[in-house]
Amino acid sequence: MAEIREITRFERIGAHSHIRGLGLDENLRAKKVADGLVGQVKAREAAGVVVKLIKAGKMAGRGILIAGPPGTGKTAIAVAISKELGKDVPFVHVSASEFYSTEMKKTEALIQAIRKAIGVRIRERREVLEGEVVGLDYNMVPNPYNPTQKIPESATLTLATKDERKTFSISGRLAMTFLYQGIEVGDVIVIDKETGRVSKLGKTEKASRKYDIGGEEIVEVPSGSVEKEKEFTYVVTLHDLDEANARSGSLFFMLSSREIDSEVRNAVDEKVKRLVEEGRAELVPGVLFIDETYLLDIELFAFMNRAMESEMAPIIILASNRGFAKIRGTDIVAPHGIPLDLLDRLLIITTEPYNEEEIRVILEIRASESGMVLEKDALDMLTQLGVKNSLRYAVQLLAPAYEFAKLRNSRNITVDDVKRAAELFVDVNQSSSYLKKWESKMLS
Ligand SMILES: Nc1ncnc2c1ncn2[C@@H]1O[C@H](COP(=O)(O)OP(=O)(O)OP(=O)(O)O)[C@@H](O)[C@H]1O
Ligand SMILES: [Mg+2]
Repeated sequence: MAEIREITRFERIGAHSHIRGLGLDENLRAKKVADGLVGQVKAREAAGVVVKLIKAGKMAGRGILIAGPPGTGKTAIAVAISKELGKDVPFVHVSASEFYSTEMKKTEALIQAIRKAIGVRIRERREVLEGEVVGLDYNMVPNPYNPTQKIPESATLTLATKDERKTFSISGRLAMTFLYQGIEVGDVIVIDKETGRVSKLGKTEKASRKYDIGGEEIVEVPSGSVEKEKEFTYVVTLHDLDEANARSGSLFFMLSSREIDSEVRNAVDEKVKRLVEEGRAELVPGVLFIDETYLLDIELFAFMNRAMESEMAPIIILASNRGFAKIRGTDIVAPHGIPLDLLDRLLIITTEPYNEEEIRVILEIRASESGMVLEKDALDMLTQLGVKNSLRYAVQLLAPAYEFAKLRNSRNITVDDVKRAAELFVDVNQSSSYLKKWESKMLS
């Protein structure tokens, strides 16, 4: 499957690296602690249903809002959804602030994000040569431009399957590719007859035992004929196709802006539709997760609303920690700062504040994920800080506290390490009341 390419996805999951999934059983019931997630049972179960709908293709063009107070796991649940979807479904994670840049118009940035979240699975039949390399002899000649160096002028290649063995004479150009890729006897390879593209699938078991080189995939010798038709599938996003087309269309694309012409997009859409009609491709609607939703303004909301109605639309997931707020760019106050017509089409999942026990377990999981050991008093104190201040604050104190432990050459975080960290780093409430107190002096 050397042809399958990973989908571009934006991952900013440092703070969420302990999350591996939603932690649900086969009936979509949340286990108390699983896949790195703790509690928040209703939200996780709702997210599980959403994943199921997305996988069944029944969510395209629809939206989800995850609403809840700060630090209650909204981003964590979105990250868990992306883990559950697997890597063949595009998942784009952006903060609404990223739409405002000097590089491109905000609506352009939003379309690009939307198109990164729509995949196209393309199937292609190609004529290939496939087999184990059982003979490879280069015919080396001096490089005409640098006679001290030798390059292959041609080569003789013998490929074998379980049933057949064939010898080919290959061109200097292809032989160079072989040299560059370090292809040798015992490798199982596929050569695309038309493009000359070579992919190495792995080594045969016999060859890997003989040379005892680790780290390489061991594959079976293929059966059937050496020359055959093979089907390849790969997933690209609409944005990948836009970029490729824009580049081939205009010389200036790379030099000028990163904005893409709407003509290019229309051409890509037409081409994709044709491929789908011919049965050579299928659409894979993915997820566009927009965090910090309160930063979206009325224009972006309007644009998004329209985009969700189009034939090719991803699933949009928004996250908001605001109750009632002004819609940015207007004086209208709306729930979560989101226009009502958009809210109307969203399924809403809410997250709730954690209790003490849940905060304790989350801290434990975060610590062990980073290889830290929390002594009991240290965990008690952090839990209290989590209850009194916020979960996020307590989670954030882990890293500096661990630095203090390491200064003593220890992996164990003691209560003193936590105290020292809490003294040096304040939480938002403390810092804002501090500034309030000094405001008059600081601004003068
Ligand atoms: N249920 C949970 N289980 C395990 N870890 C969690 C859970 N909820 C939150 N966390 C972790 O706690 C931290 C804060 O949560 P998160 O960033 O998801 O909150 P949020 O609701 O997105 O907050 P904000 O509104 O400020 O964006 C993160 O490190 C997150 O991974
Ligand atoms: Mg968040």
